[in-house]
Amino acid sequence: MGLFSKKKRILPPPRHIAIIMDGNGRWAKKRGMPRTAGHAAGAEAFRRTANYCRTLGVRYLTVYAFSTENWKRSEEEIQGIMILLRQYLEEAMRDMEKNHVCFRFFGDLSRLSPDLKQLCRDAEARSSQYHDVQVNFCLNYGGRDEIVKAARQFAEEVAAGSRRPEELDENLFGQYLYSGGIPDPELVIRPSGEKRISNFLLWQSAYSEYVFMNVLWPDFGPKDLDDAIEEYHKRDRRFGGV
Ligand code: FPP
Repeated sequence: MGLFSKKKRILPPPRHIAIIMDGNGRWAKKRGMPRTAGHAAGAEAFRRTANYCRTLGVRYLTVYAFSTENWKRSEEEIQGIMILLRQYLEEAMRDMEKNHVCFRFFGDLSRLSPDLKQLCRDAEARSSQYHDVQVNFCLNYGGRDEIVKAARQFAEEVAAGSRRPEELDENLFGQYLYSGGIPDPELVIRPSGEKRISNFLLWQSAYSEYVFMNVLWPDFGPKDLDDAIEEYHKRDRRFGGV
């Protein structure tokens, strides 16, 4: 269990936290282990973090599990990540009544194996009644791809006559994204020392606070989340005002 200090009990945690789970490969390499072992440790770090978010009262947790670019990795590594996701979702389906976690998937699931895709859809459908914390898995997700798909859908509706171009504003456009109906993340965390956005939540993070941390994702724990939230509270969020 992390700090949970007096200060953090007074200052509410962000409603929505997003995380780029980075550094699994380096974590494994440092130990002379295969990359898939790093992802397995990363999946454990995710479990810890999701549980701690629930304890803190964070309402939405969005994690980058697999990007549109990750298909360039070896077949073995890709399959390793897919197996971990399947294991996690099967376990989550078993524990659903206990944990009350709602699941959503951001990304183009059509490239996943039919059984994993079905598992994602089942998890989404069965968990939609729960509201303690909502986990959004970004799977075969890319921020640019999401924006292009949203634009295409809107254009198709205009072509079909059900929308007019002048109706489009930022609010309406947001409804066409995977995250439609979900508030933007106030805090985006990237561990592992890299300071890039890497095509993650490009639209939704327009006003997010980014916290870059040196810890590798498999080592990430409640204390690191406390530190990121503390850093977020120190920032003066002006949204373009003065
Ligand atoms: C980035 O680290 C991480 C990924 C591409 C995969 C993330 C997947 C998981 C944490 C497991 C998924 C399962 C669950 C249950 C969440 P990297 O491999 O790019 O690390 P590196 O930059 O050190 O090589």
